[in-house]
Amino acid sequence: MGRSLEGKVAVVTGGSKGLGQAYAKRLAEDGADIAIAATSLAQETEKMVKDAGRKAEVSVCDVSSPEDVSKFAALVMEKFGRCDILVNNAGIYPYQSFDQMNFDDWRKMMAVNLDSLFLMCKAFLPSMKQNGCGRIINLSSTVSWLVIPDYTHYTTTKMGVIGFTRALASEVGEFGITVNAIAPGLVRTGTTETNSPPEIFDMVAARQAIKRTATPDDVVGAVSFLASDDAAFMTGQTLIVDGGLARA
Ligand SMILES: NC(=O)c1ccc[n+]([C@@H]2O[C@H](COP(=O)([O-])OP(=O)(O)OC[C@H]3O[C@@H](n4cnc5c(N)ncnc54)[C@H](O)[C@@H]3O)[C@@H](O)[C@H]2O)c1
Repeated sequence: MGRSLEGKVAVVTGGSKGLGQAYAKRLAEDGADIAIAATSLAQETEKMVKDAGRKAEVSVCDVSSPEDVSKFAALVMEKFGRCDILVNNAGIYPYQSFDQMNFDDWRKMMAVNLDSLFLMCKAFLPSMKQNGCGRIINLSSTVSWLVIPDYTHYTTTKMGVIGFTRALASEVGEFGITVNAIAPGLVRTGTTETNSPPEIFDMVAARQAIKRTATPDDVVGAVSFLASDDAAFMTGQTLIVDGGLARA
């Protein structure tokens, strides 16, 4: 494996487990030092990053809180002095019917899955602009195209991620900064295993062109590519990594 990100610093939100942990590990293997913001201390991920020979900084930080994000960004600047890659991965996805959802539920989904992008990009774009380069990678989902019941709030945020990605890309390209998204299908993580009925994995796999359930390892390559110099002329895009589920 090449060390294409040698000397770079990557911020990965939600890097304590699941997809975020896999992204942090892969970006470290690619050569980047890693800062992680999550709801709990990401000690397991910290060890993975250090085992890859890179520095790790892990923080408990609510990505929907302006105060927390501001403190986290100050810490990253103090420890690493720069941010080259920002992976906006932290997200929540509880099933809830529109009927049962109250305004607080709706607001929480918007805050964690969308306000976080605003806050993190505001916090780290100045460093990227100063350095004349940067990579922002946002997490959308194939729910943006599939109709899944009990996901009105979640689908709204993940479609919103695509709009945010396209619009911000048009404003920061002149500074050498790209903004892209990836849209995974159903990936087996601790949370999807707990949240979802067990039969959902086989049902979804049967609808994919590639008939097996994805693991986080199936989606890390897309993030590694978007973070690399090879993706320097690609921006505003959403890569669908779902084994052929959405066929958008
Ligand atoms: N797993 C899938 O099937 C799948 C598919 C498509 C998209 N996604 C998206 O990928 C991302 C990660 O999914 P996952 O399955 O790995 O989830 P996960 O539940 O395993 O991990 C979520 C991470 O986000 C962090 N997080 C949650 N709320 C936070 C907050 N307020 N502040 C800071 N950190 C917070 C958690 O600490 C954790 O590290 C999410 O944005 C999700 O919508 C997941």
